[in-house]
Amino acid sequence: MIIGTRSAALAVTLVGLAAGAALAHGGATGIVKERMDAMTDISRNVKSVGQMLKGTAVYNPEEIKRAANAISGHAGDAMTELFPEGSLKSPSEASPTIWEEWPEFVTFADSLETSARALEDLAAQDADQKSVAAAFGKVAATCKTCHEAFRIKK
Ligand code: HEC
Repeated sequence: MIIGTRSAALAVTLVGLAAGAALAHGGATGIVKERMDAMTDISRNVKSVGQMLKGTAVYNPEEIKRAANAISGHAGDAMTELFPEGSLKSPSEASPTIWEEWPEFVTFADSLETSARALEDLAAQDADQKSVAAAFGKVAATCKTCHEAFRIKK
């Protein structure tokens, strides 16, 4: 896995695409809307950190700490709770295999929480930017891994 500022830049691209898709998701209701909103908030925070690491926004460890905390707050159980079995109502892009491979899905949600916590800790210690970028790369990689496995692009 490539980590560092390069993946930070990639993550920004990735999140940009995801944000574009989110606009097309008007009409979602109930739990599907709730998780889309949570994912959108995650993506806003990822984008904010990505811009700082890319140098298109002022580097601010306090803001990275806040953003990482917001991401971890949406991860783990908070995320898996938003995926009750069979919740596939249109325009959801969730894959039905989530519930066939639930332990794997939970692992991805948990690793997002762990990686976001690690990012938060580094930012809180005002660690060097290279370490922060590496930790951010891990967060972004988790989004991608889970989306590739469990999100169907419609
Ligand atoms: C445990 C798996 C998992 C992880 C981890 C995950 N996502 Fe998602 N994400 C999904 C699934 C599944 C959907 C589709 C949900 C739906 O449409 O019902 C989704 C949808 C989205 C959407 C579209 C929301 C919308 O309005 O349609 C965005 C944006 C998004 N994710 C961003 C992220 C970012 C950024 C990260 C990482 C920081 C991330 N996600 C981590 C599973 C995950």
